[in-house]
Amino acid sequence: MFTILTGAQFGDEGKGKIVDLLSQDYDIVVRFQGGNNAGHTVIVGDDTYKLHLIPSGVLTDARLLIGPGVVVDPRVLIQEIEMLKSAGIRVTPEKLGIDAKASIIMPYHIEMDKLREQRRTQKIGTTARGIGFAYIDKISRDEVRLADLAHKNDFLATMDELAPQKERAILDLGGDPDVVRDSIPDYTGYGAILKPYITDVSYELNIALNHDMNVLAEGAQGAHLDIIHGTQKYVTSSSTVAGSACAYLGVGPKRVDQVIGVVKAYITRVGEGPLPTEQAGEIGDLLREAGGEFGTTTGRPRRCGWFDAPLARKAVYLNAYTGIALTKLDVLTGIDPIRICIGYEFDGQCNEYPPELSSELERCVPVYEEVEGWDQDISGAEDFSDLPAAAQGYVHRIEDLLGVTIQIVSVGPKREQVLFV
Ligand code: GDP
Ligand code: IMO
Ligand code: MG
Repeated sequence: MFTILTGAQFGDEGKGKIVDLLSQDYDIVVRFQGGNNAGHTVIVGDDTYKLHLIPSGVLTDARLLIGPGVVVDPRVLIQEIEMLKSAGIRVTPEKLGIDAKASIIMPYHIEMDKLREQRRTQKIGTTARGIGFAYIDKISRDEVRLADLAHKNDFLATMDELAPQKERAILDLGGDPDVVRDSIPDYTGYGAILKPYITDVSYELNIALNHDMNVLAEGAQGAHLDIIHGTQKYVTSSSTVAGSACAYLGVGPKRVDQVIGVVKAYITRVGEGPLPTEQAGEIGDLLREAGGEFGTTTGRPRRCGWFDAPLARKAVYLNAYTGIALTKLDVLTGIDPIRICIGYEFDGQCNEYPPELSSELERCVPVYEEVEGWDQDISGAEDFSDLPAAAQGYVHRIEDLLGVTIQIVSVGPKREQVLFV
């Protein structure tokens, strides 16, 4: 079975939690795009793990893979392996494989990301992890791949060719070009550490599927941060929608059995860009506090707002979800009434689907319906039928609006705080 799981909003929907939960039934969990701009939280027992590159199935018996479409900061990956080791979790090459063609994020990518962002008149609010510049180099065929990094002479030859170009670019952006060559010795060391993990991810996955094994592809970010279909230009630099899992991983689309969307019961966004249902006042603060809405990667406060059905509907189109995991329903406890955005007023018309351009989305005025809230603590519920009628009603209303079955409802950050509908 091949399942693809993606975020349906602007990231941070709770993908890490759902992947950890589902991984118990999978043989392989694989990341297919993005890099350490992602921050996926897994909480089991009293332990919290914030994962940036290692797939969120790490606490289960699944094999973990990082595909060739991921941009890998080797320093961050090695730190993450060390962090897990100190928590008693050994991430050996038998556990984790990284594709030979994964692109390496070099210090000059991070520097260029920061310098470019400083100079932008309209900020994007990137995570400053060098993601966009690493993908630029993949597309322009100037990337350093893990295979290059792992072979010292190939890496040094690549750097000999690239360094003058990168130094000029950094000077151009007003930065210090020394960052390019100063880091080379450290990076040869990282290559040696990561060499044993190298694998061919596409081959491993296809062989596994041929043997009827279960593979779960874990998306990072969310539908509206997709480089093409998202709210350009306030997007990330990879394709975050389900279809791209096939292309990034080298697995044909006929293999896909399930596509799961992770949807937060309200909406959040970190960084710039349109967010029609954003609540700057009391409700926004309430959601941020109750939901702990601060970036897992950068610690920035997340912008919070009411559930946005037009954006969620578009995510359903972009991904063709077969089922939905609705997260953070518990965060809405105590808010009454709850508002749901069911459409937008835009240029004198009411629309149920978002306009294509960000400049148009900025001008949309949400049309809300109000639904009844609930007061009872739902974080200990063990069965969907234990939920107050108003909470069940909220879930069913979202299901109606999206036309996709909600299979899982999450009522707290822990693995067991989950209801199967
Ligand atoms: P991801 O990037 O999609 O994996 O999401 P993050 O981990 O960045 O952010 C989700 C946050 O919400 C994390 O702190 C999770 O521990 C937490 N979380 C996940 N599901 C729930 C839930 O159902 N209720 C509550 N209260 N918190 C949740
Ligand atoms: P997970 O996987 C939320 C946002 C950044 C910024 C934009 C571009 O945890 O859901 P980038 O550094 O990627 O060039 O920044 O994308 N962003 C995320 N927002 N969750 C994420 O990942 C994100 N990854 C990137 O805030 O607005
Ligand atoms: Mg996150």
